[in-house]
Amino acid sequence: MSWAVVFGLLAALLLLLLLLTRRRTRRPGEPPLDLGSIPWLGYALEFGKDAASFLTRMKEKHGDIFTVLVGGRYVTVLLDPHSYDSVVWEPRTRLDFHAYAVFLMERIFDVQLPHYNPSDEKSKMKPTLLHRELQALTEAMYTNLRTILPGDTVEAGSGWHETGLFDFSYSCLLRAGYLTLYGVEAPPWTQESQAQDRVHSADVFHTFRQLDLLLPKLARGSLSVGDKDQACRVKGRLWKLLSPARLATRAHRSKWLESYLQHLEEVGVSEEMQARALVLQLWATQGNMGPAAFWLLLFLLKNPEALAAVREELEPVLSRAEQPISQMTTLPQKVLDSTPILDSVLSESLRLTAAPFITREVAADLALPMADGREFTLRRGDRLLLFPFLSPQKDPEIYTDPEVFKYNRFLNPDGSEKRDFYKNGKRLKNYIMPWGAGHNQCLGRAYAVSSIKQFVFLALARFDLELTSPDMEIPEFDLSRYGFGLMQPERDVPIRYRLRP
Ligand code: HEM
Repeated sequence: MSWAVVFGLLAALLLLLLLLTRRRTRRPGEPPLDLGSIPWLGYALEFGKDAASFLTRMKEKHGDIFTVLVGGRYVTVLLDPHSYDSVVWEPRTRLDFHAYAVFLMERIFDVQLPHYNPSDEKSKMKPTLLHRELQALTEAMYTNLRTILPGDTVEAGSGWHETGLFDFSYSCLLRAGYLTLYGVEAPPWTQESQAQDRVHSADVFHTFRQLDLLLPKLARGSLSVGDKDQACRVKGRLWKLLSPARLATRAHRSKWLESYLQHLEEVGVSEEMQARALVLQLWATQGNMGPAAFWLLLFLLKNPEALAAVREELEPVLSRAEQPISQMTTLPQKVLDSTPILDSVLSESLRLTAAPFITREVAADLALPMADGREFTLRRGDRLLLFPFLSPQKDPEIYTDPEVFKYNRFLNPDGSEKRDFYKNGKRLKNYIMPWGAGHNQCLGRAYAVSSIKQFVFLALARFDLELTSPDMEIPEFDLSRYGFGLMQPERDVPIRYRLRP
């Protein structure tokens, strides 16, 4: 090795050491700064292992705003729900939603879109999920849920069947959701085409689920060599299953899909990249509904009083209907809109299990006003993180016994929806935030709510559902999934079900 190379290597090593040991200091007006003890990495390991416990500890140490070093990035964490509005309504030029989304798009799904203009994409996609289109989606979802739910199938047979509640809920919602957005085998629905829809959507679900399990590691860039091979294989398979050429033959494709494909064509995205974007969208649109429905059903099965109240609310719908439930082709919107008890149960289960990170890139040096009058300066290039799961959702000052499921927590004594929750004596605007808030609040919220409610309705009306071991504890969370939306359980919950007579 020549002296020049040795000298070069030494210089690079020195530079690296200098970078690793150069410690940022807190400037006047900035939030408390905590760099942890490991240079550059900071708190990356603790954060990745169990973000909720780590952030709880940091909140006790520093209060409701602080900056931590996480894998070379400075992340300012804000945990005061009264101050969230000053973040979620900031213009993109100051706090940018998309920079981190684009980073994850690339890292997890290998998607790179030329001339990507998120505002343009959003303005094209928004109308496809609202108003008339929402009604069309809701109706298609009901039909597809009936295709997928074992009740209508020969294989359901009679007698009890055993399964896992998580698998049951996730599989039904993702498969029906996939058929609703990406289209079905052939119109009109025949027994044969429905059987094909069941087989194909099961293939999509099982392949998707293998990728879903690798997601936290993919996002953190911590895949083992074996995991990498597996991720590569699974993605390749999904890109084939969802290729534009394959989707071109499908019937009843949603307006959402048509508009998205047209948009991708217009901005010059290749067919190969379109398939990748469609896999990304499968996750973005379907990754949370199944887990949400799982927790909701599990809380009901563990709380007989809550289950009885929900059943009692649904009973009149069934008795007033002109047809038996097995023949109903839609669930009228006015029925979906008049179930305050089920709505309260949904809000309560989302309060306990929805744990997305609301992340923004600080696009310019700025002053962040807090609701209590304090003001903190944020540095351009840092990341800002809200974690509503800790506060408001699990905050004991807002919710008494915040760990306990109370089915009527979001109901007033007169049975109407409760919206009054307080912290520091002040009414909260954002008291649960499973859908985010502000400029980037979830666009699919109404569709997701109606889909989950239809699934719960069908599951309760058509089946007797029981926990195999009624005394079993509610499973712990898979702690690696904080930040991705709905939490998933560490293990599945065995249930048995049978068709109701
Ligand atoms: C239980 C199901 C769902 C949950 C819990 C959920 C939650 C969320 C959250 C937390 C955000 C990000 C907010 C932020 O960072 O500020 C978001 C954004 C979004 N969601 Fe959902 N979502 C669900 C289902 C859906 C569905 C079914 C669709 C579409 C069919 C959808 C479409 C979107 C879109 C397009 C955005 C981005 C909005 C933007 O760019 O401004 N979501 N969702």
